[in-house]
Amino acid sequence: MKNKRVVITGATSGIGKEIALGLGAQGANLVLACRDVAQGEKTAREIQERTRAKNIVVLHLDAASQKSIREFAKQFRKQFRRLDVLINNAAMNRGALPRATNAEGIELTFATNVLGYFLLTQLLLDALTASAPSRIINVASEFASDLDLDDLQFERRPFVGAKAYAQSKACDRLLTWAMARRLKGSGVGVNAMTPGLVVDTGLYRHSPPGLVARLRTYSDRTLADGADTAIWMASSAELEGVTNKFFVDRKQVACEFRNRAAEEKLWRICEQLTRTT
Ligand SMILES: NC(=O)c1ccc[n+]([C@@H]2O[C@H](COP(=O)([O-])OP(=O)(O)OC[C@H]3O[C@@H](n4cnc5c(N)ncnc54)[C@H](OP(=O)(O)O)[C@@H]3O)[C@@H](O)[C@H]2O)c1
Repeated sequence: MKNKRVVITGATSGIGKEIALGLGAQGANLVLACRDVAQGEKTAREIQERTRAKNIVVLHLDAASQKSIREFAKQFRKQFRRLDVLINNAAMNRGALPRATNAEGIELTFATNVLGYFLLTQLLLDALTASAPSRIINVASEFASDLDLDDLQFERRPFVGAKAYAQSKACDRLLTWAMARRLKGSGVGVNAMTPGLVVDTGLYRHSPPGLVARLRTYSDRTLADGADTAIWMASSAELEGVTNKFFVDRKQVACEFRNRAAEEKLWRICEQLTRTT
């Protein structure tokens, strides 16, 4: 990964931080896209101490805010022309918390986990294309369900945090396939992965304690297990030219969320919701 530039969203904790550590150890030039810059700087220092990574830049990104994503892209472009790997990882799960919206009035889970991936990718595409062959890795989940393309923001259904999260993770897969279709032949590969169920991270901080306890007994997956496939997808020569695939534990698996009409419908909705004019 020497001389390769990698943007990782949500790199201050959990799986994103572990991915950053893994790619830092391989000598990548890291851009940590974090909503808490002080925490990002702390993470950067830790990565520097624990790996041989020298070039780590921390840039502010609130993935829930389109304004912030646009500002991030502007700051990125000021410093860099090329990007080799984009890892869309930052996500949240409202668990037992009630429905909430961002400054743009969009339900927070959808804004962060879906529009966050969509808009950042759109805004960094020129840098990824300039670096082709380059890679986009969308961190999705096996925990994917409750997809309703006519009610993506839970305006008609009662809001349930876990359902909004599961829907957003299904959307991450649909978007990956729609994106891959658009990027065919461009040299920018776009694939999705899951860290596997479950890795004990801050993702479940708002979930009912009973659920968290049950999840903990269900799995002994470590952070390293959760990050391994994304690190491999970012760095392995095996993945050169590979696009439009879903990976679990370094294995390509079938994805039940493949439906061209649904993918395109979601794409259009994301375009509409991120349009500025
Ligand atoms: N853990 C699992 O079992 C599991 C399973 C399948 C998939 N995943 C996926 O793995 C990815 C990472 O999750 P995780 O388990 O590592 O969770 P985590 O420990 O909660 O980490 C999430 C990261 O995203 C950041 N983040 C959240 N909202 C953000 C925002 N609005 N703007 C910028 N950054 C934001 C967090 O920043 P702060 O530190 O500031 O909160 C944190 O760095 C997610 O895409 C998740 O869906 C996890």
